[in-house]
Amino acid sequence: MKGIILAGGKGSRLYPMTKAISKPLLPIYDKPMVYYPLSVLLRAGIRDIMIITAPPDVESYRRAMGDGSQFGVNICYGVQHVARGIADAFLIAADFINGDRSCLVLGDNLFHGAQLESLLEAAVAREEGATIFGYPVMNPRDFGVVEFDENNNVISIEEKPKEPKSRYAVPGLYFYDGQAVELARTLKPSARGELEITGLNEEYLKLGKLHVELMGRGMAWLDTGTPSGMLSAAHYVEAIQARQGQYVACPEEIAWEKGFIKDEQLAAIGQELKMTEYGQYLTALLEK
Ligand code: G1P
Repeated sequence: MKGIILAGGKGSRLYPMTKAISKPLLPIYDKPMVYYPLSVLLRAGIRDIMIITAPPDVESYRRAMGDGSQFGVNICYGVQHVARGIADAFLIAADFINGDRSCLVLGDNLFHGAQLESLLEAAVAREEGATIFGYPVMNPRDFGVVEFDENNNVISIEEKPKEPKSRYAVPGLYFYDGQAVELARTLKPSARGELEITGLNEEYLKLGKLHVELMGRGMAWLDTGTPSGMLSAAHYVEAIQARQGQYVACPEEIAWEKGFIKDEQLAAIGQELKMTEYGQYLTALLEK
């Protein structure tokens, strides 16, 4: 399965404040924003990853993340020249996906919680169709909204509906079978001029192949793509880490737990970053 992080157009609401700064270098509390979606892919066991960014950001992403070897994975880069929508990721990544199954995570979405691993495992295990998630929110009008029956069969999915049919928003984490690229190619731009991810999900719904898994109480899904979203997420990460001493979204830790990198590699990264709390945290993992 291939992993895609779309860090391009989605960050555009931060554009005024990031014109002078590369987005990947914008931290959410103590680590770059892109570490949060990257951690989700690593937790899902996905080791072939494409990061899609806007043209000015490619080089800084490359400098920060390299070829992925520090996380024991392969990272390559794709460029989204125009913010043409989320489903455009499948056109950009078509050769990279190469008919395989794929998981797309938006570059500014943060997921955290005990339920995450089992949700990811179930989605990875599904060979056919698409898996999306449903998360109850106070403001469903701002999102894709999914309506489903008592057996979690999807009845409808709508992008930013004026009259939402449920309070379940669809977070920026999507799993698809090998048909995604072919179906994305049939999409037409929406009224806001974008290839909507909701459009792709509707195609799967028409085929009777769209599954929804609900994220329950206690799961955190935060959108860090606005100034206030960034601040809320930073507070969340700080509160959990200070209380538990366990990091939220530390890709080196996840890679080490999964056996993608060995003790020596983790030790070397910890040593390199020893002046920082982050580095000290990595070193302490080996002493437990
Ligand atoms: C996008 C999607 C929407 C989804 C949301 C999650 O919205 O179009 O379906 O619920 O991401 O963050 P956008 O942020 O592009 O308006």
